[in-house]
Amino acid sequence: MCGIVGILGAKPVALDLVDALRRLEYRGYDSAGVATVENGHLERRRAEGKLRNLETRLQSEPLAGHTGIGHTRWATHGKPTERNAHPHMSGRVSVVHNGIIENYRDLKAELQAKGHVFASDTDTEAVVHLITDEMDAGHGPVEAVRRSLKRLSGAFALGIIFAGHDDLMIAARQGSPLAIGHGKGEMYLGSDAIALAPFTSEITYLEEGDWAVLSRTKIEIFDRNGGAVQRPVTKSIASSLLVDKGNHRHFMAKEIHEQPEVISHTLSHYLDMGEGRVQFPELGIDLSAITRVSISACGTAYYAGLVAKYWIERLARIPVEIDVASEFRYREAPMSPGGLALFVSQSGETADTLATLRYAKANGQRIASVVNVRTSTIARESDAVLPTLAGPEIGVASTKAFTCQLAVLACLSIALGRASGHIDAAKERELVQALVELPRHISVLLRNEHKFEELAHALGKARDVIYLGRGISYPVALEGALKLKEISYIHAEGYAAGELKHGPIALIDENVPVVVVCPKDELFDKTVSNMQEVAARGGQIVMVSNADPDEAGCKVVSHIEMPDVHPFSAPLIYAVPMQLIAYHTAVLMGTDVDQPRNLAKSVTVE
Ligand code: G6P
Repeated sequence: MCGIVGILGAKPVALDLVDALRRLEYRGYDSAGVATVENGHLERRRAEGKLRNLETRLQSEPLAGHTGIGHTRWATHGKPTERNAHPHMSGRVSVVHNGIIENYRDLKAELQAKGHVFASDTDTEAVVHLITDEMDAGHGPVEAVRRSLKRLSGAFALGIIFAGHDDLMIAARQGSPLAIGHGKGEMYLGSDAIALAPFTSEITYLEEGDWAVLSRTKIEIFDRNGGAVQRPVTKSIASSLLVDKGNHRHFMAKEIHEQPEVISHTLSHYLDMGEGRVQFPELGIDLSAITRVSISACGTAYYAGLVAKYWIERLARIPVEIDVASEFRYREAPMSPGGLALFVSQSGETADTLATLRYAKANGQRIASVVNVRTSTIARESDAVLPTLAGPEIGVASTKAFTCQLAVLACLSIALGRASGHIDAAKERELVQALVELPRHISVLLRNEHKFEELAHALGKARDVIYLGRGISYPVALEGALKLKEISYIHAEGYAAGELKHGPIALIDENVPVVVVCPKDELFDKTVSNMQEVAARGGQIVMVSNADPDEAGCKVVSHIEMPDVHPFSAPLIYAVPMQLIAYHTAVLMGTDVDQPRNLAKSVTVE
């Protein structure tokens, strides 16, 4: 995840910017840079690799400006070279950016046609030239940014400074978090409060769609409609990474909202977004030689694996066996040579998953793990580690780790499809594009959270809730039911929609809400039949779909309207309403959302 910092300071800021960036190192990066306003001009220093390289550069070529921005970059569009490192700049504007500008190609073509010369391969530079173009047309910095923001599509955060404006910085948040720190005669900007902890504990968090005009003594914040808004100043306790909830009530809420950012970050580790290709790190495993995949995991991670089974079998035509680790380990499953054994675990310490890994290893399998904690035992004992870059997950009920697991597994599935010769370059581009668009869709969904509060009132009264899904939506339904029971303690079960008639339908009456996960894909009509069977028995249908509720042909008591996304990437976005339904129901019920009774985050016993 890229890191953003900014300081409107009382003295030269370059070294303080580097200090703040150091506190964002945990996010991972491959190059870094700072820019300051010096005697009215923009000056920058950038370096490939670690922050110490940037520091060395600053020692030999110091920057004297009192206004500056800094950035640690995790390459998405373009290689991790100095030329692609942020800040990017024209003579008038310098920008640091986190996230993805989805429409950068169109903007770049338009701006190049007007004579703008691009010096990098990044999507970010389109923002620089867009704002510059508006300023060239005679607009002041604030108006130029306001006009430019309207033209950007994607999920991102921006920090911007201007030549000739020593007391001005503009920040914008659309999908990636940003915090503003209040100092005495100084003002700070950071991707999170942790970066700003050495300078101040007085923090204002920008909300989705906000943009802010900062000076040393004043902040003006505008919402997405351009109206001036007030956001509270909170006291941050960011000295420890693990205790900062930002402006959220629970870690789970914070983690749900971090998804656009952490999914972007995770995807950028596995994709060349500019080229529309999967770019897998060296695995030491020949993907084209794999004849069979077995997947093993527990809880939510198991459901991520179940989604991957659908993807891998569909895209690579490789048979996939999957089992919960506690069963796999004792079942004495035969494992033939040439197999890839895949383990999915947020913590990387789950006892059953680890035992299964050791079983697979003893049976001659190549071991790959999808883990969120890179120093974990499962990671250490694997031949190849596929990290999820979700950052620390504190809420016991897994949310962002799950969607990041899906992001990694989606990339792996494309890579296997390519290696097995079942998908060509055009198909690969189509699938990669579907993934690249996800963070934006998720941030739009998160803006309409109030709908879930309303729904919670209905679900909170239920004794049992049934979740249905078909095909790749089946594991999403299972995850939805697990989330609800974990944190609201309401009994919930997920079923394959086609299994409804083979038992669960006996439970349906007018007191039973039935959440139906039904993207408009090739199985939609089949699921519609199941919905009608539920409605005929008085069941309360909650339809989670991009299709119009009229298409259900029966009474739908609640419709969660989903964006139109490619069926391939649907599980990642349909996971989000599952989380929000559970979260808001639990909040209403007054349960301990982050630490539900009887559950543990990391289960290191059998
Ligand atoms: C526990 C957690 C779940 C998690 C599961 C597997 O049950 O409460 O949220 O999905 O363990 O954990 P892992 O760390 O292996 O993903």
